Amino acid sequence: CGIVGVAGENISAGYLLRECLRKLEYRGYDSVGIATINDGKITVAKGAGKIDEVDLRLCLQCLRGNIGIGHTRWATHGPPTDNNAHPHIDCKDRVAVVHNGIIENYLELKEELMRKSHEFKSQTDTEVIAHLIEDYLYQGLEPYEAFKKAVERLRGSYALAVLIIDTPDRIYFARRYSPLIIGVGVDIVFLASDIPAFLEYTRKVIPLNDGEIGYVSSKTIHIEDMSGRVVDIPSRILEVDWSPESARKEGYPHFMLKEIHEQPRVIGDTIFGFSKDYEAAASTLASSGNIFITAAGTSFHASLYFSLLTARLAGKKVIPFISSEYESYANLANKEDVLVAVSQSGETIDTLMALRSFKERGCKIISLTNVIGSVISRESHLPVYMKAGPEIGVAATKTFTTQLTALTWLSSLVSFYTGKIGRDELSEIKGRIMKLPDLATRTISRSEGWARRLSQVISSRHSVYYLGRGLGLPIALEGALKLKEIAYVHAEGYPAGESKHGPIALVEPGFPVVFVSIEKNLERKLVGNIEEMKARGAFTIGIFGEQSELVSRVDERIIVPSSDELLLPVLETIPLQLLAYYAAVAKGYDPDKPRNLAKTVTVE
Ligand code: G6P
Repeated sequence: CGIVGVAGENISAGYLLRECLRKLEYRGYDSVGIATINDGKITVAKGAGKIDEVDLRLCLQCLRGNIGIGHTRWATHGPPTDNNAHPHIDCKDRVAVVHNGIIENYLELKEELMRKSHEFKSQTDTEVIAHLIEDYLYQGLEPYEAFKKAVERLRGSYALAVLIIDTPDRIYFARRYSPLIIGVGVDIVFLASDIPAFLEYTRKVIPLNDGEIGYVSSKTIHIEDMSGRVVDIPSRILEVDWSPESARKEGYPHFMLKEIHEQPRVIGDTIFGFSKDYEAAASTLASSGNIFITAAGTSFHASLYFSLLTARLAGKKVIPFISSEYESYANLANKEDVLVAVSQSGETIDTLMALRSFKERGCKIISLTNVIGSVISRESHLPVYMKAGPEIGVAATKTFTTQLTALTWLSSLVSFYTGKIGRDELSEIKGRIMKLPDLATRTISRSEGWARRLSQVISSRHSVYYLGRGLGLPIALEGALKLKEIAYVHAEGYPAGESKHGPIALVEPGFPVVFVSIEKNLERKLVGNIEEMKARGAFTIGIFGEQSELVSRVDERIIVPSSDELLLPVLETIPLQLLAYYAAVAKGYDPDKPRNLAKTVTVE
C-alpha cells in the first residue's frame, strides 16, 4: 500500500493527493481513496479500482481543502471493495485514517469498541484506528493525546496519517515498521510512503524512524521519538538528488522498458558509487565467522549469486536463505557472524525481521539497498547502496543488475581481504567491471528484436523451463520469475542437472526450455541437459556469452557481447528481462502493474 498526506496554504488538496497517489500506485493498487477537510467537515472519496478509474467515477481532485490524506491499497484484510478502501472514518466523521501495514490485534480492539456501540463499515484492520481515536476523543482527550493513546494500543506494523476535525490544519502521523517520509516544501508539507510521491514538489525529506509520532501542518513539523523526546527538525532534513524526470516514463510505453534501458547508466552510477563503505563491509566479511545472506524475490537471486561467487573468488562459505525463512537459520548465528541483508527497497518486512533476529544474536549486519534512509539500511551496521534510482515497474530489473554489479565488487573485495588476490588483481577486476555499462548498451540493442520475435512463441505457451548450472542458476531463476510475474506464463527455474529428476516429465514437443550458460567449464555438462530436452522434442533457447560452445546445440539463441564470466551474469539477465517484457505486452498485460503483486511488501 501507499499513503500520502498534504497540508498547505491555498492549495487544492484533492488535486495534489491524486497526483501524489499516481506516483505511489506501484506499491499496490486494488483501491484508492482520499479525505480532505473543508468548511469544518471531512469529505471522503474512495473506491475499488485503479486511480484513474476511481478518479473518473468520483473526481478525486474535486475534493476541496488545504489539507488531506490519501491511500492506494493492496488488500491484506478484506477484499478490494469500495467499503474496504481507505480512508476509514469513525462513526461521527470526526476522524479519517489511512494506514499501511497490519494491525495484529485489530479483532481484539474491534470487539472492545463494538461493545461500546461503535459501528464498523469495513472488514479492514485499519478502521479500528479511527474508532479508537474517536473513543479517546469522546473520553475528553485532546486530539493529539487521543491519537497517541490510540497508537499505543496498536500491535503490528503501521504508517499512519490521520485527520481529526477538531484540529483542521493538522495531519497526525506515526510509523512502526512501514515506511513513512515527510517532504518539506515552502508553506507546504507532504507525508508519503515513498519519496517519488512528492518529488515533483520538494526534494527536502525527513525519513521517519520506527516509533516516531507527531503531526504536520503547512508550517509546522512536530516529531517525537520513541521515548517521547521532541526531535530537532533542521538536523533531520536530507536533500535527495533524484530528479522528478527519473520517476517518470520518459517516453517509453512502460516504466519496465525504460528501466531496462536505464541499466547501462545506473550500472555505471553504481560502479562510481563503490565507496570506502564497500571496503569496510568486505573486510568485515573477510574476518567474520559464518556469513549469511538473506533477501526476498529478485533480491534473493542476487544473494544466491553472491554466495556462489564468493565461494569461487574468495573460498568463503556464504549461507543464502530466503528472508521469510529466517527462523530456521537465526539459531545458527553467533556474535562472530555476519548477515548481509539485500533489499532494493530496504523496506521488505521479511528481510527486516531476519535482520533484527540476527542482530539480536549479536551478529554484524551489512545491507545492500537502493534507498538511502530506508529502514533496512538504517538498522544495519554497515549499509552499502546500489545507485539504480527509483524503480517504478513492480518487476525488478535495474535494481537486480545493479545488485549483481555491487555484489560482484563486494565479492572481489572479500577475496582481496582474505588474501586470495593482490591489489593488482583487484584493480584488474575493477577495470573489467567498468566495461559493463558499454557492454550492457550493446546487449540491449542486440536483444530487442530477438526478444520481441521470441516472445511471440513464449507468450503462447503454458509453461517454460529456465535451466542453468553454477553461476547460471540464479540468472535462470530470475528469468523464470520475470516471465511468471508479468506475462503470467508458468515458468520454473531449475538447476539444469536436477531437471531430469521431475521437471522433464512435463516436456513434450514444442515445450520451451531456456538454457543459461555462464561458466565455460560447466558447458560440457550442460550439453547433456540440452540433448535430454531435445530428445523429448523441447524447443531449446540458449542465453550465451561469446565463445560458448553450445551455440549450435539449441534452436534459438542470443549471444551477449562478452566472454568474461564475471560480467556475463549481468549481461545475460538483459535478454531474459526483455523476453518477459515483450511476452507480457504480446498478451496485452501491463508489465508495470502485475496482478496480485506489490513493489514493496511490508506484510509478513
Ligand atoms: C516484491 C517485489 C519484487 C522484489 C521483492 C523483494 O515481491 O515485487 O520485485 O524482488 O519484493 O523486494 P526488495 O525491495 O526487498 O528487494
